Amino acid sequence: MCGIVGYIGDGNAKDIIIDGLKKLEYRGYDSSGIALCRDGKLMVRKKKGRISNLEEYIAGEAMDSHLGIGHTRWATHGAPSDLNAHPHTNMDGSIAVIHNGIIENYVELREWLAKEHGVVFRSETDTEVIAHLISVFYEGDLTDAVYKAMEKMRGAYAIGVICAHEPDKMVAVRKDSPLVVGLGDGCNFIASDIPALLKHVRQIYLIENNETVVLTKNDVKLYNAARQEVKREVFNVTWDADAAEKEGYDHFMIKEIHEQPKGIRETLTRRLDDERNIKLDGISMTKEEIEQFNKVYIVACGTAYHAGLVGKYIIEKLAHIPVEVDIASEFRYRDPFVDGKTLFIAISQSGETLDTLAALREAKRKGARILSVVNVVGSSVARESDDVFYTWAGPEIAVASTKAYTTQLACMYLLALYMGKEKGVLDDLSYHRILDELLAVPDKLQTILDNEKSILEMAKTLYRREQVFFIGRGLDSSVSYEGSLKLKEISYINSFAIAAGELKHGTIALIEQDTLVIALATQNFLFEKMLSNIQEVKARGAYVVGLAKKNNTEIEKQASQVIYIPECADEITPLLSIVPLQILAYYIAKLRGCDIDKPKNLAKSVTVE
Ligand code: G6P
Repeated sequence: MCGIVGYIGDGNAKDIIIDGLKKLEYRGYDSSGIALCRDGKLMVRKKKGRISNLEEYIAGEAMDSHLGIGHTRWATHGAPSDLNAHPHTNMDGSIAVIHNGIIENYVELREWLAKEHGVVFRSETDTEVIAHLISVFYEGDLTDAVYKAMEKMRGAYAIGVICAHEPDKMVAVRKDSPLVVGLGDGCNFIASDIPALLKHVRQIYLIENNETVVLTKNDVKLYNAARQEVKREVFNVTWDADAAEKEGYDHFMIKEIHEQPKGIRETLTRRLDDERNIKLDGISMTKEEIEQFNKVYIVACGTAYHAGLVGKYIIEKLAHIPVEVDIASEFRYRDPFVDGKTLFIAISQSGETLDTLAALREAKRKGARILSVVNVVGSSVARESDDVFYTWAGPEIAVASTKAYTTQLACMYLLALYMGKEKGVLDDLSYHRILDELLAVPDKLQTILDNEKSILEMAKTLYRREQVFFIGRGLDSSVSYEGSLKLKEISYINSFAIAAGELKHGTIALIEQDTLVIALATQNFLFEKMLSNIQEVKARGAYVVGLAKKNNTEIEKQASQVIYIPECADEITPLLSIVPLQILAYYIAKLRGCDIDKPKNLAKSVTVE
């Protein structure tokens, strides 16, 4: 989703900003633009499509500048076009604005600006109203004008503003959309995400909601909504800039798929002491608190929601607490039954998904205890939670989530084991059995990755398909949803997942000669039932790819092709079975020539409703 970068300092603003925007490409975008302050004027250049289009457009232009803002836009209001791309300016072009978020009352503001101030709009965007509003209030002090404009705006936004009359200053604001400030030596930065800045700085201010930042090249000041100065601790980024590079892989997605054994190992082993007790650092829930929870709500979006589906199964089984899983955009408008005895778990890779954040706030308002499972340290979801359980996956750049999902699963297992033990409902034998199984996962995963070529060969036989059904039972049905999502989001194949037992209630009507069905049959106690489901679809002509544990070779009699995963306990299979499905989706998309890391219309971090 929209990415923002701003720079003030002695360096070449254009190059630094374009470079930063490229680091934010993974968020998803459809146009880009830049505004630079030069000789008392603003130069604004914008282009539809990739950042390379913008680069070509401005190549050869004299654009030396020490102050500028840049933007990658993911269209919400108005189609992707040169005109709708950011930055947007006021009528005389002296004020430029970049924005991530949505101004909800923009129609009303547009009418007011046109009627009362004679503003003529050039784009269809909500963002353009911000530039005109600031202009209307501008009386020589950009910060003051931004504050006054904010009083009129409703919605979620992170904005960066520059003004030709104040070439030594940049103003930025955060309200519900992510914003960080990078602290350099003789230069300072704003960005919507840390990777944009890592080449230049390691010291970051994480900006809080309703804060305004005023940057000069040697100073950064933070102010709250009441215009009082606030102090912020410097956040030191410890992870390596290289972690956000491809390191020889063709795509971030396949690199991140290969990082899963490491991510899972880190997430698990760092939480175990010498006696193999789970130590949940950052989580202060007491035994008494865990005992009084009578319900768990897991709320998330997309892949994180699918991790929640597995979490439900595991927490109910190991900790004996009823769990509801909900999609964040539904939960927040449903008036759900949440109270002081509810444990609310928000799962979010980015920690910035607007719906998840809003659901969290709603649950907090109702008195629930908030625990979040988050990958990005210091993100909004993490900061607003009572307890944070970090997935140590490292930065995930590909839009299609892989290592974040499996590390989220690892957290679900640890949490379930921990709560089961604290509540006294999980005996030692079962605790150690599951723990042993979990600790064996990274090596088993490695064997799947080492065998990647066989999945490539399978992909070659399947990549021309235009429709796929994923089926499974129990935990396999949860993994089916995620496997199907992976395939559809990067290959654009019409893919659909359904609990195998539900087939007969409608979906089987769509199965005909040669329809591709991917049948997950990893659960020993449901294996025969899955064989029956496979027979049902085969009887209607389906072409079946089976997925089973290594010893369940019986499946070969039913399926045309089979993916095997190593032997493991039924409870653990999601950590293994999703990986060949990720690899299959990757190679199918690659053979179809898709833009794998940046699928069309999708964004990595969904910071609008
Ligand atoms: C987008 C991303 C998905 C992600 C979902 C939730 O749709 O493309 O990969 O699963 O948002 O994001 P979150 O950061 O909250 O996990």
